[in-house]
Formats: sequence, structure tokens, C-alpha cells
Amino acid sequence: MIKLALVSTKGGVGKTTLTANLGALLADMGLRVLLIDADEKPSLSKYFRLRHPSPYGLTRVITRGLVTREAITPIDLPRLAGCLDIVVSDSPEINLSDWLYSRIDRAVRLKLALRSPDVVDHYDCVILDAHGGAGAVEDAVALAADLLISPVRPDVLSGSEFMDGTLRMLERLDASSAIGAGLGPMKAVINCLRRSNNSRLVADTIRENFLRAQGRVTMLDTVIPDANAYQAAATAQVPVHRFDRQRGAASPSAYEVMHRLAWELIPSLQGVYAGQEPGHVR
Ligand SMILES: Nc1ncnc2c1ncn2[C@@H]1O[C@H](COP(=O)(O)OP(=O)(O)OP(=O)(O)O)[C@@H](O)[C@H]1O
Ligand SMILES: [Mg+2]
Repeated sequence: MIKLALVSTKGGVGKTTLTANLGALLADMGLRVLLIDADEKPSLSKYFRLRHPSPYGLTRVITRGLVTREAITPIDLPRLAGCLDIVVSDSPEINLSDWLYSRIDRAVRLKLALRSPDVVDHYDCVILDAHGGAGAVEDAVALAADLLISPVRPDVLSGSEFMDGTLRMLERLDASSAIGAGLGPMKAVINCLRRSNNSRLVADTIRENFLRAQGRVTMLDTVIPDANAYQAAATAQVPVHRFDRQRGAASPSAYEVMHRLAWELIPSLQGVYAGQEPGHVR
């Protein structure tokens, strides 16, 4: 099982959009995928239609330190080769960040919850979506994953916020490794690249900055263009790879881009397409 987390200290960079679309693509490739909406203001929980609501969600998972079937809701997407479920962000009576912050096991609580049999025995991939910012829940999300994915918008502000904010967050979380939490590698992905020279220039500058980050963060070769399809697919509550398959357009289709992204993140999926059953990746 692989655990991915979408993290960034900056809001609105595309974490939820990528979590939903990557999760749905992997499920369409035949994987059993569990999404976790760890944003206290739910947005991933509303991204797709849900089949029937389960009685519990994130609050129960964090306060119990365990994931059980009653905290998992099936997502209503027809014709999935695998499966796609979610732990929704519920409306907690308590402030989860404050609750978690007061716990001595705050760094590892979510990581250990993901070792529950109802996760390990039923899923090939878990994808966690955190709020854009820094707090106890966001730290727990980052420390629960094997691989961190951080979308960066190709503008000067986002680039410098990434270098300052996200790298500082990594350094702080690296210190948690001392208490056994461990932090996975981070891959940054340029999201919302416009077809303008300035945007390309900034993307190249961000790439150069990463080279200077001495391997702590690597930059994915896959670049996600700024395209209406991402918003339109979200409005229609369908995965973007199903929504935009157009070939020969000026920029690559979301179908192509999302496949490239999945293959780069999970190389064992190379050559597997949505609608095929991979079998060997489990
Ligand atoms: N590649 C893209 N092209 C065009 N629009 C995009 C793209 N990716 C994301 N968006 C849009 O950008 C907006 C912000 O995206 P999203 O909500 O996924 O960001 P976020 O990082 O989860 O934000 P927050 O930090 O508030 O949780 C949304 O309106 C989304 O549709
Ligand atoms: Mg979000």
C-alpha cells in the first residue's frame, strides 16, 4: 500500500483538485483507493457524489486513532475498475487541531491509524488532502504519508512562498523524525501553467531553486496546465481524465496529463491506462 499526501503551506494551489483526480484515475486503473479529507473545512468531501453517508469521518479517526468501516464512505462513480472511498471531514464539535495538539502522540496518531486492518487489508493506495497552512492536523497528514506532493503555481509569489514556507515546514517536520515519525520525500509539481512566456520563465526559475534545495525536494517532470477542464470537471463532479480526453489541442488533455502524473509518482503503473486492471501493482 502506498500513502500519498498533498501538502502546501499556501492555500488554493490545487491540492484538493489533484487529490480527487489522482484518486479517481488510480481507481479507474484498478486500484482500491481511500481518500482522506483532512481539511476541517470540507471540500474533498463534496468533490464527488457520495453513495450513502457513513456515520463517522475524520473526527472519529483522529480521536480514536483508528480507521474502521463506519468512518469510510463509498464514492458514487460508475464503472470504476477498482474502488474509491473516502473518510469525510465531518463537522466536529471539537477543534481537531487543538485536540490533536494536546496529545503527546500527535505526530504519529494519523500514521498509526492508517495501519488499521480496515485500511491495510482493503486498499492499495491512500491519498490525504490537508488544508493549506500549518497546524497539528497538517503536520500529522504529512507525517502519515510515504510521499508528499506539493503543487506550486508558477508565479513569483507562489514560488517564493514555496521555497520559504514549505521548505521551513519540511525542516520542522524533519525534526519530528527524532521521535520516530519519519518524513517521506517531497515531490513538487507545477500546477496551472499558462501558455505565456512569463509563466514558463517562473517555472524554470522554480526548477533551478529546487536544484539548490539539494535533493530534499524533487520537481516532477509532469506539468499541469491551467485549463478550464479542471474546474468544469469539478462542477460536473466527474474525474477530469474522463471529462477531457481531447487529442491534438494546443495543450495536452487532462487524460494525458493525469496519466503522466500517476506514472511518474508510481512508476510500477507505467503503461497502465484508466479502464485496465493492473493486477501486478497490488
Ligand atoms: N490545473 C488547473 N487549471 C485550472 N484551474 C485549476 C487547476 N487546478 C486547480 N484549479 C482551480 O484552482 C482552485 C483552487 O484549487 P483547490 O481547491 O484544489 O486548491 P487547494 O490547494 O485545495 O486549496 P485550499 O488550500 O483552500 O484547500 C479551484 O477553483 C480549482 O478548480
Ligand atoms: Mg483544498
